Amino acid sequence: MLYGDNILEQVQSANDIVEVISQVVPLKRSGRNFKGLCPFHQEKTPSFMVNAEKQIFHCFGCQTGGDVFSFLMRYENMSFPEAVRRLAERAHIRLPEKPSGREEGPSDTEKYYEIYRLACEFYRRQYLDPVLGRKAREYFARRKFDEALAEEMKMGWAGDAWDGLFQFLSKKGFPEELLLKSGLICRSTKGTLFDLFRNRLLFPIHQLQGKVVAFGGRLIEDREGPKYLNSPENPIFSKRRELFGLHLSKKFIDREKPRILVVEGYFGFLRLYQNGFKSAVATLGTALTEEHVRILKRFAEEAVVIYDGDKAGEAASLRGMEVFLEGDMSVKLARLEGGLDPDDLIREKGAEAFAEVLGKATDFFDFKLETLQKRFNRKDSFGVMKISSEFLETFAKIKNPILQTHYLRRLSAAVNIDEPALRTQLAKLAPKGGAARPAAAEVPSKTPGPKRVTDDEIICFALAVENPPWRRTILKELKEAELEEPMIRSLFGQFGQFEGGESKPPALAKVLSRIDDEGFKARLVAVFAFEWSPEDKEKAFTDCLKNIIRKRREKRLAELMGMIASSERDGQAEALGGYVREYQALLKAKE
Ligand code: CTP
Ligand code: MN
Repeated sequence: MLYGDNILEQVQSANDIVEVISQVVPLKRSGRNFKGLCPFHQEKTPSFMVNAEKQIFHCFGCQTGGDVFSFLMRYENMSFPEAVRRLAERAHIRLPEKPSGREEGPSDTEKYYEIYRLACEFYRRQYLDPVLGRKAREYFARRKFDEALAEEMKMGWAGDAWDGLFQFLSKKGFPEELLLKSGLICRSTKGTLFDLFRNRLLFPIHQLQGKVVAFGGRLIEDREGPKYLNSPENPIFSKRRELFGLHLSKKFIDREKPRILVVEGYFGFLRLYQNGFKSAVATLGTALTEEHVRILKRFAEEAVVIYDGDKAGEAASLRGMEVFLEGDMSVKLARLEGGLDPDDLIREKGAEAFAEVLGKATDFFDFKLETLQKRFNRKDSFGVMKISSEFLETFAKIKNPILQTHYLRRLSAAVNIDEPALRTQLAKLAPKGGAARPAAAEVPSKTPGPKRVTDDEIICFALAVENPPWRRTILKELKEAELEEPMIRSLFGQFGQFEGGESKPPALAKVLSRIDDEGFKARLVAVFAFEWSPEDKEKAFTDCLKNIIRKRREKRLAELMGMIASSERDGQAEALGGYVREYQALLKAKE
């Protein structure tokens, strides 16, 4: 861990979770909790809860949860050290200098942001320079874009100097190593340093909060090199996460009908934006990822994917749509004809023509059915089987049961097979669920996080955090060596420490701040957030502990059985005796 426990506690207690969250999510008091609309998924009735006493948040809808650090990490896409720094700044706490030996401490991150901020300004000045930027501005105008848009997008120009940016940034005192890692500066085989972008019109890529983290650069003259060149992945930029234009478009998404248009190119985005289709984003020349969908879901319920007419291989379009469905977002496909992209279409045929294409966007289901029908005949039994199984494979990945049922019905109608039969087939495909857990069935079991830690362990340990006698029970009944999962082990270790010195119950927040696996944290928090009646709580704790002990015993019995067999075979009488005694003792204890 980058920061010590003391400093983490200090930062945490100086930042009340209700205050921090209510700066970005409107919260209303509701009993002992605060409630609001979850910022991590779309919803109309609040299921996002913040508990001031426990200093945790949890969403009953999407099962996201954690402490104040987790919130910031998720909401702002930050790393843990970044969240700590942000909260420390907020509370005017000075953090110790970055411990040596860590490669990317928080202060480096700040430096990369600074490099990109300065680079963006540098390239913007070149663009605006009457002489240097003339070609770029002419090109932009020729493609029928306004200077007001160039200003809003902070369009830049990298001229043909070899090392203009390098000179500029070195004068600011940035070390070479950092500049190289930023990706904006390269080293030639001879060892000289030069700029990545030369003779290119630059599209700054902004993070959600508006910071520049990369550029896309387009050649505008007939020169050597690829048409587009993007900043490489760097410590502050990941293609899998960023979406071009979202920092602007997020403000324009219709609250009543939250919908986002997803296009492929920079210019496609610019054209839509300039023509009033402002709720749009562009992917950065890559396929759509799960992370993209997770971010988009904060702003919209539905996506309309607009693929260029020419290269839209059906398979690629379908895959893109499935990523949305898997991420629990509804999605439509708008297809452009005749090899046009949205930029071409609007420029050649006007905004109305594009609006018409949008109006005709097909739903995922219809699109997939259409493509499957080209391959199979839904009137014969083989065709029905193939079409159904192709669909069911996608449905199996849809997490939202309502969406899943909706599509199952449509499939049922399309292939004329009744819904229960399709469901039976679907159940065979679905990822296998957790073991039956009668006692605590009310606890949300769909929680994300490392699945190797069982629900029994999560519930048992979470309930014990604030209950010293239960902590002692756990310490007595279980042994650290038998706990296989590192996170559970670390909790066990903490319970031991609490027994040592501190007499007060450990603050929940403290325990949470020491867990660096967000998935695990969210699962614990789901247990804390559950409204337990005292009896249920007690029963859940004892049942779960019993289950853990029973499973441990069964595992040991199986091991012993194996060892008994092999020592018998090898004639190791002494060892055999030991194993048999242990086996019998365990069996007896079971009764
Ligand atoms: N792209 C890229 N690298 C390439 C080609 C394309 O990153 N070598 C990305 C860019 O984000 C680009 C998008 O893919 O905007 C779509 O590519 P393309 O359709 O070729 O370009 P357009 O955006 O239509 O640009 P233009 O109209 O200037 O040709
Ligand atoms: Mn184009």
